[in-house]
Amino acid sequence: MSETFDRIPRGTHDILPEDEKYWSFVDDILKKHCLAMGLNQITTPVIDFKSLFIRSVGTQSDIVKKEIYSVQRLDTKTEDTKDKEERDELVLRPEVTAQVARAYIQHGMQTWPQPVRLFYLRQPNFRYERPQAGRYRQHFQFGVESFGSDDPLTDAQLILLLWQVFQDIKLSDNIIFDINTIGCKKCRPDVKKQIVKYYKAHEEQLCDDCRERLKKNPLRVLDCKNPKCQEITLEAPQIIDSICPECQTHFRQILEILDELEIPYNLNPQLVRGLDYYTRTVFEAREETDEKRQSSLVGGGRYDDLVEELGGTPTPAVGFSFGYERIIEKLKEKEIEVPELLGPEVLLVQLGDKAKIKSLPLVAKLNRLGFRTTVIPGKESLRSQLRMADRLGCEIALIIGQREAFDNTIIFRKMKEGVQETIDIERIEKFLIKYFKR
Ligand code: HAM
Repeated sequence: MSETFDRIPRGTHDILPEDEKYWSFVDDILKKHCLAMGLNQITTPVIDFKSLFIRSVGTQSDIVKKEIYSVQRLDTKTEDTKDKEERDELVLRPEVTAQVARAYIQHGMQTWPQPVRLFYLRQPNFRYERPQAGRYRQHFQFGVESFGSDDPLTDAQLILLLWQVFQDIKLSDNIIFDINTIGCKKCRPDVKKQIVKYYKAHEEQLCDDCRERLKKNPLRVLDCKNPKCQEITLEAPQIIDSICPECQTHFRQILEILDELEIPYNLNPQLVRGLDYYTRTVFEAREETDEKRQSSLVGGGRYDDLVEELGGTPTPAVGFSFGYERIIEKLKEKEIEVPELLGPEVLLVQLGDKAKIKSLPLVAKLNRLGFRTTVIPGKESLRSQLRMADRLGCEIALIIGQREAFDNTIIFRKMKEGVQETIDIERIEKFLIKYFKR
């Protein structure tokens, strides 16, 4: 018996037609805000070099340690030398920030007027995770990355953008931003020293992962979800107390702007985020009721050293990404009404061979004139085509039968009322304009 293909890899999903209205609703709002703010759109490849993510996201991150998928062609015999060199190096991207930083360097964006502010829409990312609600192996992100400004206004402006988006998609009632600062290159060693000193005294009680983190990435101990570690963390020194005065001022200014904007935030001294490139500001957005931060809707922060780390000239930067799946799940959970997608408003019904030949040129003409018009192939009878017009929600059916095809007329039928009249084919445009009041 031949195999039936009716499954999909774990942790992935199809976006079905019935769901597309949610995705488009979110996309339209995101794009509107980004363009209004003067951001430029960028799209990067789904495959990229492993070394890019190792260097940026970091060897100690869960992403690099456990989650990256490699990419290989099945046939390695016919590769040319260049492909051979790249073979073991290609992976499915786990995130977009590193790629956008790479693009900034590669395309000489340092010479553009700064800051260079870019956004990406509906970009798939791949992480080998244990699939569960809101956690997928392929998930889609929207994000913004801003290069060339260390002004606290930039950080606040990105949070404002997000806040406005949450307002527009009607989720803002219940959203809060967790925010923290983790210091810069200069003061981070001090911060680490304080943290290590504190946790060393409690090492026995820490989970195995945290004992390991204490050696390699001590700040991550702060946001461990293990209840025992969290108890110890309650008394841990706060990062804000050991960062340098410049970082303190930077952070204070962001908070002042957020206060002025009345954006709800929560100073969260345990927030450090799991990617190595962050400096200074880190933030997440979540539902207020999700106090344990199980499922962040947005994650972001500053990464002032990343461009230099990837070989570019030193360039401060800040950005964020949000996951579509988690946002769309919230829209559905809260039964937020989203607009239906616009389908055709006019169906051209064609009966007989001559009408068939005339139908597509007429559809093309009406579409060009701005009337959303279609024809349904494979249906021969008047009844079945009219039924289709009803199902598609078309307000007008234009019918060309044998006779109409012959004497250049057409039947103009108002679907709701069921009334119709035969008109000269040249007069369609006028009738449509009058009916749709355009
Ligand atoms: P991240 O926190 O790893 O940060 O991901 C950002 C958002 O993507 C999360 O808040 C969540 O909504 C969504 N997300 C992440 N992993 C999954 C998953 N497995 N399933 C479903 N949704 C997921 C970054 O990716 C950084 N690049 C953010 C950034 C941009 N920082 C600076 N610029």
